[in-house]
Amino acid sequence: MDMSDVILNRRMTRDFSRRKIPSEIVMSVCRLALRAPTAGNCHGVELLTIADDDLLATFWKATSDEQWLEKNTDSGVRRAPTVIVPLYCSESYTQRYAMDDKAGSALYKKPAADWNVPFWLTDTSFATMTLLLAAQDHGLGALFFQLHRPERVLLDAFGIPQEYKTIGAIALGYPDEKKNVSPGTTKGLSAPSHPRIHIDHW
Ligand SMILES: Cc1cc2nc3c(=O)[nH]c(=O)nc-3n(C[C@H](O)[C@H](O)[C@H](O)COP(=O)(O)O)c2cc1C
Repeated sequence: MDMSDVILNRRMTRDFSRRKIPSEIVMSVCRLALRAPTAGNCHGVELLTIADDDLLATFWKATSDEQWLEKNTDSGVRRAPTVIVPLYCSESYTQRYAMDDKAGSALYKKPAADWNVPFWLTDTSFATMTLLLAAQDHGLGALFFQLHRPERVLLDAFGIPQEYKTIGAIALGYPDEKKNVSPGTTKGLSAPSHPRIHIDHW
């Protein structure tokens, strides 16, 4: 698919079919995601993929509001056959930027709390966006969504070391063609009427 088509046709998918994704396709999407730019060539982003039905149940229990869980036993999002959790470790970045070749950087040996732009979040966002586009290119739908319980509940349930955190999760699967909104009908604010591209000055 043409890159412009991938970008223009990508929409957050909230209604999935139950059809499982072949594991090699999940791996391909993940590998592409991890080709995203990474500060200091740090490669600090890691991905947890969940496709086993019992583990998916564990995921939803660990991340959802109890009432939502009870009411939405068969919601469009919960039918997603795969969930991917992007993970980062800020120490990978502070350690990388404490190396000799970074002595000239303003971030050299800076503790995480002093980074104006936390590159671990930048990298994780870049990887997540790349994953959404890779999913689109593979004919899949995806939804990035926030967790509704403290992230440690999820991370502990999957044995993820204490130093790792996440920015949310991505539901991945084949869109339920009967239910999905067509591009441009997503609820919410319409695009602002002012231009968001400023040429030469604000
Ligand atoms: C940081 C971020 C958090 C989001 N969280 C959620 C979420 O928790 N649940 C959800 O349904 N959509 C979520 N979205 C999707 C947005 O609502 C969606 O991207 C927006 O409405 C534009 O629609 P489109 O991506 O289909 O073009 C999130 C998007 C971003 C970038």
